Amino acid sequence: MSLSPHSFDYIRSLLHERTGNMLDDSKEYLVVQRLDALLRREALESIDELITRIRPTPGCRLHDAIAESLVTHETSFFRDPHYFEQIRENVIPRIVELRRDQRSLRIWCAACSSGQEPFSIAMLLREYFALSLRDWKIQLLASDFSRPIICRARSGRFTDIEIDRGLPAPLKHQYFTRDASHWQIDARLREMVEFREINLIQPSLELPRMDLILLRNVLIYMDEEPRHKILRTIRRLLHPGGYVVLGGPETTHKLDPSGSFRRVEFGRMSCLQIE
Ligand SMILES: C[S@@+](CC[C@H](N)C(=O)[O-])C[C@H]1O[C@@H](n2cnc3c(N)ncnc32)[C@H](O)[C@@H]1O
Repeated sequence: MSLSPHSFDYIRSLLHERTGNMLDDSKEYLVVQRLDALLRREALESIDELITRIRPTPGCRLHDAIAESLVTHETSFFRDPHYFEQIRENVIPRIVELRRDQRSLRIWCAACSSGQEPFSIAMLLREYFALSLRDWKIQLLASDFSRPIICRARSGRFTDIEIDRGLPAPLKHQYFTRDASHWQIDARLREMVEFREINLIQPSLELPRMDLILLRNVLIYMDEEPRHKILRTIRRLLHPGGYVVLGGPETTHKLDPSGSFRRVEFGRMSCLQIE
């Protein structure tokens, strides 16, 4: 199926407006590929027909469905394992030291996709910090703008392929059980994570201040304006002394030209702290 330049522009401005995600000129094929399932579901013949349907009703559910189809939800358990090592060996112990008097720890996975990232953090807390955080108030918030992906994450159900990506066998046996066609995560882990729909580009997002924010592999898909907006929000929601962890390819010096964060290196992982 071909896509007229006019329709391509319409779709990519819709995506940018809703999520801050960008599509460059070479991504026409991706739009065609990723909207195919939506067209079938809605019994529409073409993307032009889809646009004709949604144009008179800005804000209708199909706008969201288009944005959801176009963003990248790629994730896995313990993605970039050396990050989780550094979080375990350096980041959490430092936060625990800092918050010893309040006995409270707040962690936010701010673009959590189908849940592997927050559940990896939940496993790490149970496996390595159960004793030192006994009697602490632990809040683990996980969010994404996409309603379907948040519903999926909240269900704690994973396919064979998802479960075999990055999850060590002992943790699989300890925390997952096989039901008919999926792997179901243990209720103890599911109850540790609060899943919410949050669009990071929404104005004046209000949340309690966080000790650790994972903002991994989401800013790379955005251009400068939404990146800066999100980093301003993240800065406001970060507890002094807390850490922001970005994805491997996301370097801060381009993301944060105003220098409102300082970089801290732990091994091969760099994170951000408030200046
Ligand atoms: C590539 S996944 C990264 C998942 C996980 N953080 C990781 O590193 O494995 C990017 C996620 O960001 C979400 N996302 C994109 N734009 C967003 C926005 N404006 N607000 C919240 N989430 C967004 C997408 O829905 C997607 O699930």
